[in-house]
Amino acid sequence: MHPEPELLEQAARILSAGGLVAFPTETVYGLGANALDEAAVARIFAAKGRPERNPLIVHVASIQAARALVTHWPAEAEALAAAFWPGPLTLVLPKRALIPSLVSAGLDSVGIRIPAHPVALALITLAAMPIAAPSANRYTHISPTTAAHVADGLGTGVDLILDAGPTQVGIESTVVSLLGAAPQILRPGMLGRAELARVAPTIDYAKSEPASDEQRPQLAPGLARKHYAPRARVMVVEHIEADNDHGMTRVGRLSLHPSRLASSTDPELAIVLPAEPAAYAEHFYEALHRLDALGCELIVIEAPPRTEQWHAIWDRLNRARS
Ligand code: TXA
Ligand code: MG
Repeated sequence: MHPEPELLEQAARILSAGGLVAFPTETVYGLGANALDEAAVARIFAAKGRPERNPLIVHVASIQAARALVTHWPAEAEALAAAFWPGPLTLVLPKRALIPSLVSAGLDSVGIRIPAHPVALALITLAAMPIAAPSANRYTHISPTTAAHVADGLGTGVDLILDAGPTQVGIESTVVSLLGAAPQILRPGMLGRAELARVAPTIDYAKSEPASDEQRPQLAPGLARKHYAPRARVMVVEHIEADNDHGMTRVGRLSLHPSRLASSTDPELAIVLPAEPAAYAEHFYEALHRLDALGCELIVIEAPPRTEQWHAIWDRLNRARS
């Protein structure tokens, strides 16, 4: 599925006029505006109900365009960009003054990436501008992996939604800061530490306080703010039970093992996800969106393996659980 060329041209015109266009990337759908137009960027925050302390990611179509937005392009940026762009990797670098401070939430840095999606790249190229785009969901809700999720969540707040079917990666990009002595992973993603370390051997997870609420890990239940969360309550359990209603009337379940949900009374609410991390991530948000839409009060999720390849999924599980 691919939007008509006329629709892409219309989308580029909307962006040039300061409007908002939701578009697919390989990770999740983004809510885009001209990154150099502060008034347009302000509309993103309004449409999402997002606090202005959360910086946005700027999407470009070439390394040259990325370099034009920063004051310093270190060797690690060159190496990581060459290895992983276009792809699900956001690099945080010192920003040039042409980027409005609203984009970076007042920080001196900016997150940049080249998305690996033909529609996103075509849009950036046609519009001939860097596009600021957070995930196209209401603040604190789960990111959209289909155009329908965007329409359901943001509705009339968006001028145009480009539909190219479900996204492939399924969760948000890995965010890496290149501001310090060694690269730091601020937000884990499906592009994992091991892969990144082949190009940037000193890379590690950030230990210091993250720059925004969305990156704040759940230190203890109730302490951290709820993010990437469905409307339903979320519980993560070691062994899922198809018949335990947890005192609720409508319980959705996500398991990795078909046999464990075989006795479910309402098969619609019992979803089996693939037991392989990339395929799990691809379908994870879609499953949460679906159970939310079916009116679940509680979503019980079976704990996936606790290995490094599942790290980013565990990060999202910990943010979604209540
Ligand atoms: O996959 C993705 O990254 C998607 C697609 C649309 O590209 N975008 C996305 O954007 O997830 P958003 O706004 O929902 O999340 C952006 C993350 C936030 O956690 C934000 O704090 C971090 O990137 N970020 C952006 N600029 C930053 C900066 N200057 N310093 C630290 N973190 C930054
Ligand atoms: Mg987001």
